[in-house]
Amino acid sequence: MNQNSRTIRFFSGEDIPMEMHKVRMVQRLTLLPVQERLRAIREAGSNTFLLKNREVFLDMLTDSGVNAMSDRQYAAMMLADDSYAGSETFFRLEAVLQNFFGTDFFLPAHQGRACENIIAGTLVKPGSTAIMNYHFTTTKAHVVRFGGVVEEVIGEGGLQVESDAPFKGDFDLDKLADVVGRVGAQNVSFIRVESGTNLVGGQPVSLQNMKEVSAFARGQGILTVLDASLLADNLYFIKLREQACFDKSTAEIVREMASLFDIIYFSGRKLGCARGGGICTSNRELFMQMRDMVPLFEGFLTYGGMSVREMEAMAVGIEETLDMDVISQTPIFVEALAKELIQKGVPVVTPPGGLGCHVDAGRFLPHVPQTQYPAGALAAAIFIAGGVRGMERGTLSEQREPDGSEHLASMELVRLAVPKRVFTLSQIKYVADRLAWLHANRDLIGGLEFIEEPKTLRFFLGKLRPIGDWQQQLADRFAQDMPSQL
Ligand code: F0G
Repeated sequence: MNQNSRTIRFFSGEDIPMEMHKVRMVQRLTLLPVQERLRAIREAGSNTFLLKNREVFLDMLTDSGVNAMSDRQYAAMMLADDSYAGSETFFRLEAVLQNFFGTDFFLPAHQGRACENIIAGTLVKPGSTAIMNYHFTTTKAHVVRFGGVVEEVIGEGGLQVESDAPFKGDFDLDKLADVVGRVGAQNVSFIRVESGTNLVGGQPVSLQNMKEVSAFARGQGILTVLDASLLADNLYFIKLREQACFDKSTAEIVREMASLFDIIYFSGRKLGCARGGGICTSNRELFMQMRDMVPLFEGFLTYGGMSVREMEAMAVGIEETLDMDVISQTPIFVEALAKELIQKGVPVVTPPGGLGCHVDAGRFLPHVPQTQYPAGALAAAIFIAGGVRGMERGTLSEQREPDGSEHLASMELVRLAVPKRVFTLSQIKYVADRLAWLHANRDLIGGLEFIEEPKTLRFFLGKLRPIGDWQQQLADRFAQDMPSQL
């Protein structure tokens, strides 16, 4: 640990995540009895996306749009200047982003995937290749929609569940050069760096690696794109783990990073802890090309589908991203959860990343074949065991191959997202405890099969059923083991 760590060392020697805020508004939670949790997950087709919030005790589905906002963000919302065109709010947000990234132009969009639609629509030609450390679900869907293909060149360690590599999101530069050599630089639509690489466990990319990727791309005349949705966590890890950055300010690091890319986009549901998104660039030509699509898909250029209140909150949230006490909150709570789980023998992705704690469903349920969606089954089981809603991040989140066969995911993970400043340490301990109970009873858990399978992004709305009656057995075992905890 270096001096930038935000955990607090107790007299006992333990490192404890410390809430660097106080709770001034609360929302009531309910914990349904286990048989009602079973009924709810059945009605949801064993898909945690289809649960209702009132059925959920701890919502760890995602951090998207559900991070806690600060008092300063709420205060800013009151000052929003509402108008279809030319609102003061837009110019305030634009100025904040210009200062944050050091870029000249800003295009607003209603969320991250809308930016992906615009970028892919501008840059992806049929048959072209978009190269990235790793895909994100919506990113890939947009590239494919425009006739492109995605190549992933993440370093080998990125796909190893357990590791002590500090930057598992890094590109393998040799693989990158190989892909470009194979497809030809002129056929590469762009190279996309995903900070805080989501699907491999919220794993960071080092500034050094970004520099190398950018230098290579620029040498080849290939455009570079930064997905900055998970920049906050990535920034914390750079300050914590990258020696060359220990003494740089967060603002300096962001500026240096941004200078490496032709286009930067983000989901404002994550970066800035509000709801919306945007694209930043200093390339006038690209700006003009992308700009055409904003009024068509998003709304007028000075709001892009966002409410002005959210834009005000986002502007403050982006500024707060430079504060280590703010951006440390998810990583240190993810680490605390991962540590508890490891102690209890539950397999998780290491080192713990940002975004959430990622449970290794492959190792948790070795008896469930990938074609029966072990990560989906585990997510449903976690809900039955504790009313905790996680998200499947495995084969279910992949698209089928054109011939209808399954595209087996490289990793079968259940993500337990830790939205910023939402959960307390006792809630985190509860999650670890219910996971430990589940792990002790893992033999009961079986697989899932589809009863309703959408063609695109099937994980969002697909409905499945358990193969056999394992969900009932699991609920009954819980009732038997923990009669006072129904
Ligand atoms: N890029 C990354 C790295 C993301 O994590 C997300 C969203 C997007 C793009 C798309 O942004 O949702 O605003 O349209 N991730 C959410 C999640 C959905 O739960 O991880 P969006």
